[in-house]
Amino acid sequence: MNDKQLVALQAAKYVKNGMLVGLGTGSTANYFIEELARRQRDEGLKITTVASSTISANMAQSLLLPIVALEHISYIDLYVDGADEITPEMTLLKGRGSDLVKEKLLAKAATQFIAVADESKLVSTIGQNFVIPIEVIPFAWQLTKKNLQDAGGQGDLRPNAAKDGFWVTSHGSYVLDMNFDKSLDAKTLNALISDTPGVVEHGIFYGLTDAVFVAANGVITERWA
Ligand code: A5P
Repeated sequence: MNDKQLVALQAAKYVKNGMLVGLGTGSTANYFIEELARRQRDEGLKITTVASSTISANMAQSLLLPIVALEHISYIDLYVDGADEITPEMTLLKGRGSDLVKEKLLAKAATQFIAVADESKLVSTIGQNFVIPIEVIPFAWQLTKKNLQDAGGQGDLRPNAAKDGFWVTSHGSYVLDMNFDKSLDAKTLNALISDTPGVVEHGIFYGLTDAVFVAANGVITERWA
């Protein structure tokens, strides 16, 4: 069993009968979804799920997990998702893909949000290994980029896969991939980007994580806030 699978299975132990469970997106979250399906089949686990992306929704559906749409929920019991970066203060960088808005809505809606990862995701500061994805309203992208540049940001619109247009998220936003001064702390950066007009949402998950489960060479460490 690899480290991503180990932490996903550990998080799945926190799922109890009757829960409304948020499904993350990515390879680590996929192991979690598979384990929920296994527990439903083998142990008669009774849960309802809500997905953070179409790809996770499709997976849940194909594994026969009961699923409800995001627009029909006002809370969830537990959300389990991977991350691209995790700081010692349990701030996350997420949203490498195109479902940042749904991921943050679920993280905020959850009574408990557990981030699961292998040790490759541990960083000392947000933005260490990845650019910060910032979803912007398409017609506002230029004004938003200018404001973020004035605040020290560097970067540009993410191109689409064919490089003949711009990336559009599941929410219909463009994405500005930006770097900022690494000495800025996550709280300041979070507020700076959130307060910029035209920003729909961004990849810094500040103050949302209840626990981080990290596995390194087969050993799981649980950190609770
Ligand atoms: C998806 O938008 C991201 O936030 C993922 O949670 C992140 O990329 C983790 O992916 P892996 O579990 O595949 O490493």
